[in-house]
Amino acid sequence: MSTLSLSRRQFLAGSAATVAASAASSTTAARAASGAGDSAPSRRVVLALIGAGGRGSNHAAGMSRLPGVEFKYVCDVWKDRGDGILKDLTRVQKRAPRRISDLRVALDDREVDGVVIATPEHWHALATVMACQAGKDVYVEKNPCNAIWEGRKMVEAARKYGRIVQVGFQNRSGPYAASARDYLASGKLGNIVHVKVYNMLEGSRWEPVPDGPVPAGLDWDAWLGPAPKVPYNPGRHANWHPWWDYKGGTLADDASHQLDLTRMVLGDPGHPRSVLCTGSNHAFGSKREVPEFQCITYDYGTYTMTCESGNATPYLRKFPGEVRYGNQWPHWPTSATRVEIYGTKAMMYLGRHGCGWQVVVEGGRVIDQDKGYFPDKWHQPNFIDCIRSRKTPNADIALAHPSACLVHLANISYRVGQKQLFFDPVRERFTNSTAANGLLKPAYRKGYRIPDTV
Ligand SMILES: NC(=O)c1ccc[n+]([C@@H]2O[C@H](COP(=O)([O-])OP(=O)(O)OC[C@H]3O[C@@H](n4cnc5c(N)ncnc54)[C@H](O)[C@@H]3O)[C@@H](O)[C@H]2O)c1
Repeated sequence: MSTLSLSRRQFLAGSAATVAASAASSTTAARAASGAGDSAPSRRVVLALIGAGGRGSNHAAGMSRLPGVEFKYVCDVWKDRGDGILKDLTRVQKRAPRRISDLRVALDDREVDGVVIATPEHWHALATVMACQAGKDVYVEKNPCNAIWEGRKMVEAARKYGRIVQVGFQNRSGPYAASARDYLASGKLGNIVHVKVYNMLEGSRWEPVPDGPVPAGLDWDAWLGPAPKVPYNPGRHANWHPWWDYKGGTLADDASHQLDLTRMVLGDPGHPRSVLCTGSNHAFGSKREVPEFQCITYDYGTYTMTCESGNATPYLRKFPGEVRYGNQWPHWPTSATRVEIYGTKAMMYLGRHGCGWQVVVEGGRVIDQDKGYFPDKWHQPNFIDCIRSRKTPNADIALAHPSACLVHLANISYRVGQKQLFFDPVRERFTNSTAANGLLKPAYRKGYRIPDTV
């Protein structure tokens, strides 16, 4: 991170040194080690926001309004980001937060209990592991990691250092998701025979843009972090989603929520036996790396799950405000983000964003339902409660990791030539493709590596 004039060697050494110093001294670490929590709402919780963009501002606004919560730092590698967040926090907090550009400043501060990581995906795992090593609790946005190996390291770091690691799969805190899970577990749908997950969004032709000068105040090298060094490109910077190095397309961005909610209501099954992802850029002929449309089949043994995800269907819509925050039910067939769960007795329509679920039988007759509400209002407090109580959060990294794997399994299947891949669920390696195993772990840049032993 050039802003602190540290070399990459120092970056790595610094994070290792931080481990020992902070983990040993942090008060939360001590509490975790003793198994004791202080769940009193009066116990102050001090946070640092890492990544002051759109989602970071949602979290700063939501969490700073919870009793006893304060953001001490707002960290971004681009000096222009975060002005609005700083202003808002200064208004609602007793103490104004400090703007920083290097997350290690927050990790080295013993007063900080936790970090909220809302950077692009290629930074999620490294920042989470560093934070755990430094004795900090973590809220990390979805998709929690950019590779299967990274997710495993996040789980290991959380457990080794006794940290709370809540993933931004907020549907897990929605009461409607819990009632859907209980409904399925009750057997009222019968045996589950098929699950269809949709994430079919609007889209248009994607065009590459030429490289250009780095904008003033942006540390492009730090933005790239663990990802390969490339010249500044405004297209990558503004929208990193359609690049394997930073995210992995709409599947990682948006369908990850759908897949996670579906896993949750199915009772969090382990990894599927196999995956096959086909897809293409035939809708608009975009020249981007990630496909405009993907069709995935996961084999869970007793049932099959499919996922259709992409940016090619403008007439399908995400749930509107009246559905997310009101009492209106969606029009399921034209809902872009619906899940259909087929049992031997009935089928369930399920939606995220607080949409809820309806169970339908012949003729479209609804026999059961539960309406939801956009779930940030439960998910953010759950993180803060768990910092105080040391209870496992609703979207614990160990539950979120297999959901993130569904994204990575599919993208790897697509990248190795749209082949069916078989997966060893214990070793988390493919059993029929060396090429696929080569995509389990990113090739990190020197100085930004996650160690094998976290
Ligand atoms: N759970 C949800 O519903 C939800 C919704 C939107 C976005 N997200 C997720 O939130 C994350 C952020 O998305 P966004 O839309 O806010 O993006 P954004 O581009 O608006 O903000 C990301 C910010 O992170 C900063 N950044 C990059 N590397 C950094 C580093 N090493 N340290 C500090 N700052 C760094 C960037 O400069 C940028 O300002 C993504 O992972 C996205 O998938 C989740």
